[in-house]
Amino acid sequence: MSILRIYKYGEPILKRKSMPVEEITPKIRKLISDMIETMYNAPGVGLAACQVGVPLKICVIHLRSERLEGSQAASKPFVLINPKITGRSGKIEEEEGCLSLPGITVKIKRSRKVKVQAIDDKGMPIIIEGEGLLGRALQHEIDHIEGKVLIDYLPWLKRRKVEREIKERRKQENW
Ligand code: NI
Repeated sequence: MSILRIYKYGEPILKRKSMPVEEITPKIRKLISDMIETMYNAPGVGLAACQVGVPLKICVIHLRSERLEGSQAASKPFVLINPKITGRSGKIEEEEGCLSLPGITVKIKRSRKVKVQAIDDKGMPIIIEGEGLLGRALQHEIDHIEGKVLIDYLPWLKRRKVEREIKERRKQENW
């Protein structure tokens, strides 16, 4: 396994829609284990393939925080290939961050609960229902697959402020 470079906001791949995975080849399996290791190393609770430079519909999620309830603190990561949100309910606004936007957190509104259909790393269809942090992570990672990042949710002025901050940090080579 190897730790991959995490692409940061401003790199074009993060704005591109990812392509579906047609077949789970050894190369894809290697990518998935590298993504998991990269996520743990960051550390983060989720990572999409486009964040490591591969525009394929793959994401990994692992919530291990002590704050979580038993059912959410999974013992192994979720691997979601070609995930799709098939149901949503409620609304909740919370603070959120992203490994591609280090040091930036923004408050955004998302569905409280989502239902996601995907295939796992063995090619088996899975359905995950998530609320709380899991629901948020699912929506966040699936957004990456669609070429969307969390500051895209901000109203224009706030977004411009964050973008200016990023530009400044890039100038200081702190990005
Ligand atoms: Ni992210």
